[in-house]
Amino acid sequence: MPSEPKARLAILASGGGSNANKICQYFNAHPFIEVSLILSNRKAAGVFHIAETHGIEAIYLPKEAWRDAQQVKDVLHSHRITHIVLAGFLLQIPAPLINAFPGRIINIHPSLLPRYGGKGMYGHHVHEAVKAAGDLISGMTIHEVNEHYDEGKILFQEEVSLNEEDSPEAIASKVLQEEHTYYSPVIEKWILDQMNGEA
Ligand code: GAR
Repeated sequence: MPSEPKARLAILASGGGSNANKICQYFNAHPFIEVSLILSNRKAAGVFHIAETHGIEAIYLPKEAWRDAQQVKDVLHSHRITHIVLAGFLLQIPAPLINAFPGRIINIHPSLLPRYGGKGMYGHHVHEAVKAAGDLISGMTIHEVNEHYDEGKILFQEEVSLNEEDSPEAIASKVLQEEHTYYSPVIEKWILDQMNGEA
């Protein structure tokens, strides 16, 4: 078991924050990992309510702050953040931030990458594309973040079966349920393996 102090996780989110909510619930009272900070690039993001519910500090950093990332890095370092997870975060992560947290940033994407990834492929756009293609399988992917949208090393994928009559909203709901089930345990294993020197 880890001998270091607790890992300090930051969640980056742009939207409603249902994944952030599950992550906060999962790590509440965890012996080795705590959610220490939530950052959002959208002032009115629902994730601020989630943060309040869990008593976790949340900070709004506008789009400009993410360009060269200096301000973001300062905030993360001042909160002694060790790991970062993206949960519906829609801006690209700039290289200086990736370099400041090498191998310590992961993302969840609502499709089976490499299908339906890349710039502009997020949220409902993904599920609409899956529907338009007539796919009967979709799923979710958890991957490391690198400088290219949705191209980092894949850590975990899970499929979901679709029916022909599923709407994009129905597909989104099925995939989101899988995200809620798997993201937190995958984050836990990812961090603990690193703390135990296995990754
Ligand atoms: C999730 O489905 C997540 O996979 C997706 O945004 C949704 C956020 O939901 N992320 C992307 O599309 C990133 N490319 P939430 O705010 O309820 O967690």
